Amino acid sequence: MDSIVIQGGQELSGEVPIAGAKNACLALMPATLLTDQPLTLTNAPRLSDIRTMTSLLTSLGAEVSSLQNGRVLALSSHDLTSHRADYDIVRKMRASILVLGPLLARHGEAVVSLPGGCAIGARPVDLHLRALEALGATLELRDGYVHATANGGLKGGRIAFPFVSVGATENALMAATLAKGTTIIENAAREPEIVDLANCLSKMGAKIAGAGTTKIEVQGVDQLHGATHEVVLDRIELGTYMIAPAIAGGSVECLGGRIDLIDAFCERLDAAGLSVEQTKRGIKVSRKNGRLNAVDVKTAPFPGFPTDLQAQMMAMLTTADGVSNLEERIFENRFMHAPELQRMGAEIAVSGGTATVTGVARLKGAPVMATDLRASVSLILAGLAAEGETVVNRVYHLDRGYERVEEKLSGLGARIERMAET
Ligand code: UD1
Repeated sequence: MDSIVIQGGQELSGEVPIAGAKNACLALMPATLLTDQPLTLTNAPRLSDIRTMTSLLTSLGAEVSSLQNGRVLALSSHDLTSHRADYDIVRKMRASILVLGPLLARHGEAVVSLPGGCAIGARPVDLHLRALEALGATLELRDGYVHATANGGLKGGRIAFPFVSVGATENALMAATLAKGTTIIENAAREPEIVDLANCLSKMGAKIAGAGTTKIEVQGVDQLHGATHEVVLDRIELGTYMIAPAIAGGSVECLGGRIDLIDAFCERLDAAGLSVEQTKRGIKVSRKNGRLNAVDVKTAPFPGFPTDLQAQMMAMLTTADGVSNLEERIFENRFMHAPELQRMGAEIAVSGGTATVTGVARLKGAPVMATDLRASVSLILAGLAAEGETVVNRVYHLDRGYERVEEKLSGLGARIERMAET
């Protein structure tokens, strides 16, 4: 497996382009299964998770062409040949479960393996399944697979989520577009990726109101048609590159960045003593002289502080002045980067869902191990600020969610390179 080698201590400057959102694209791609007409997605990110979703859709008989160097995906589900999503593909990526709702809605039948994905907690799919049952599906769990049927098609219904789930909201939303009658989704996720999916489905002819609020109403239609849709900007990649100058020093403009996508995060950077400015071209983050302030962070569903930026924020706070408490309230096992950051000299005590970080003056480079997607990038960020050399091993998780991270960071002045496995 490749590793990334960083010589720390370089200030960063310049601008960095931010890609389309992985998590939005992974929900938009299965929307092809809802129609026999073409769906075109522009501004797609070039990531291994997108290739995994491509393999999954292709295994169902969909056609997925990658155009313009991967930036445009042309999808067609005109001739689906299978409604079975196999373990071999699904285990690689939890978002594979998003084919369940659309397959069931269009074909009345789906068999989908229970998913794998990042090891950041139990991450069951019960909410997805309960939502589809509320739309009249019959479900059975057998041999690690969900067998779902909807004889006579799905019917509109009331789905009240006990807590917020991004993926379950997406599955429910896609399924409801072709269900007979009205569906009400209560306690729906409000993430920008949900709004993006709803916008695309509406272009395809779906009747959706309330996306971006806690209550979404969908009037089922008989069929959907083709559309072209631009994938929304990746707010997590955006936040990650905003932390780079925060940790290494300097000033970086993240092109396309919008504060409204990432408000709670910007507020915390501001409290830590950074300058965060919306410019015409994006968001510019500059670090003033001196140490950052310690700040407390609590992760929460949108519009709260994103769990997907918690690891990066922790990396930044390891050298802040004072004690910061980071409370992880979405996933129960999402501090795997903490022991790795400790290897670099960070002082972190984890107790239950809270990590207490006591800032140190400087981190020291060390060999570290990437454990999940966001943890991987937090170690790279830490390496930018550390004295000496940091080697981040097992970076395959990184390629699931960040395109050309070493190129983008070296473009900002970082000394970073990828070492291919020999
Ligand atoms: C999505 C994102 C992920 C992000 C997460 C939270 C994608 C591809 N991934 O993941 O990057 O970290 O939102 O913002 O978009 N849960 C259940 N039962 C379920 C579903 C979820 O108990 O059926 C729990 C999860 O274990 C977790 C919480 O609900 O504790 C929220 O998870 P959810 O919002 O569903 O995350 P994902 O959609 O998997």
